[in-house]
Amino acid sequence: MVSRIIPVKTFDLVIFGGTGDLARRKILPGLFRRFLSGQMDSESRIIGVARQNLDCRAYRSVIREAILENDSGARDKIQCLEAFLTLVSYNSIDAESESGWDNMACKMRDGTIHAYYFSVGPSLFDNIAGRLHRHGLVHEDVRIVVEKPFGHDWKSACALNRTLARHFHEHQIFRIDHYLGKETVQNLMALRFGNLLFEPLWNSKYVDHIQITVAESVGVGGRGDYYDQTGAMRDMVQNHIMQLLCMIAMEPPAKYDPNSMRDEKLKVIRCLDPVTRNDLVRGQYEKSAISGGYLDEAGKSGSTTESFIALKARISNWRWAGTPIYIRTGKRLKDRASEIAVVFKQTPHSIFAAGSGRHGNILAIKLQPNEGIELEVTIKEPGPGGMRLIEVPLDMTFADALGPSDIDNPDAYERLVMDVIRGDQTLFMRGDEVEAAWEWTDKVVSEWENMNEKPLPYSSGSSGPDDSLMLMHRDGRKWREIRA
Ligand code: BG6
Repeated sequence: MVSRIIPVKTFDLVIFGGTGDLARRKILPGLFRRFLSGQMDSESRIIGVARQNLDCRAYRSVIREAILENDSGARDKIQCLEAFLTLVSYNSIDAESESGWDNMACKMRDGTIHAYYFSVGPSLFDNIAGRLHRHGLVHEDVRIVVEKPFGHDWKSACALNRTLARHFHEHQIFRIDHYLGKETVQNLMALRFGNLLFEPLWNSKYVDHIQITVAESVGVGGRGDYYDQTGAMRDMVQNHIMQLLCMIAMEPPAKYDPNSMRDEKLKVIRCLDPVTRNDLVRGQYEKSAISGGYLDEAGKSGSTTESFIALKARISNWRWAGTPIYIRTGKRLKDRASEIAVVFKQTPHSIFAAGSGRHGNILAIKLQPNEGIELEVTIKEPGPGGMRLIEVPLDMTFADALGPSDIDNPDAYERLVMDVIRGDQTLFMRGDEVEAAWEWTDKVVSEWENMNEKPLPYSSGSSGPDDSLMLMHRDGRKWREIRA
């Protein structure tokens, strides 16, 4: 494949939380790969900001280690890595005090794009934004990037939006949801709106139901404190899965541009019905032969936070009325596997003998780990014995079809950071979208909070609580197997 990398303009990127986990695991290794690809030029600068008293050399060494640890190919490119590190500097700032800001202001150059990445807790947003203003660091061509969690509920998300709006215009605010930066998620747009084949069938007349599975095999790891306040519904459904649902269900936008896309996504969220208690299953993983249980791993004995959730969502609009969307996500499930499956209805009439098999199609969009698209079609089972029907996948794994390429295939974060520099908000959430997503999420959460129920136990390494199977079963449907 021919590389079509378009270099971005020269930028000064400041990362608040520059020594934090996200900066070390994702942002800086991602920028290094963009540097290797030639997309980031050698005039651009990255300034890490944190409270610690580090000098530039010490910071570079932290980042060198982080890149070597998080990018398996980096060890073979040491010279390039050293060249990249010369673009990285450090500025010690306590967001809650005035010192250090003027020093940083001196490092920002005229004539470059200025981007500020708030890779810190939301409680610091106001302090940082206010001080950027006071120290003359905000102008028309500035962008800020904010991370999830964007609020804990509708009220706090609205408050955060108001805080940011006091300092920045909406077109300057880039709310990251890294799922939107995944190649396959963007491919959903190409698949739906670049082909004639699917769109006529993309409605409740032909689609029986849709399944969205985001299964993780990892547990809560060292994030017990954050996760226990959050749970699967707020950590995954309110943002990542909501975005997937919007992309799969939205009407064709007039254009692939930020506002057309976000207008259509917002309409989907606003059409979501509240989820009732019967359509909701919460689970928490228990110790098994494979790994420990949630309570021990999170260090929160007695916690009732869910590490798994399954629910049936309904979209009340002309296109989707009558087609349920089943969602499930959880930690410590049997595999890391995420997919969206569009399950089509059976043919209206069978010309084949009874018992010859099911006649239907499933379009599975595999998000990770093996990105690809699989279309299940019904064929005749080869050989004698009459007309016996079976389903076979027409399988397109991207790596097989297109060839693997580390450099040209950016991971979600690096792609999105380059979009920030370009000023392209298509793959970022708008304030009203986030608020609408919380409004629906709050209603779901209140369904179980009012009942004071504990989540159902499930074994680590399983497919989640049995009740999630029942959620489908009682509708005469079943989940597709979780398989990497
Ligand atoms: C994060 C969640 O946003 O997404 C994590 O906070 C989760 O809990 C992660 O593990 C999943 O991302 P990915 O890209 O590994 O599917």
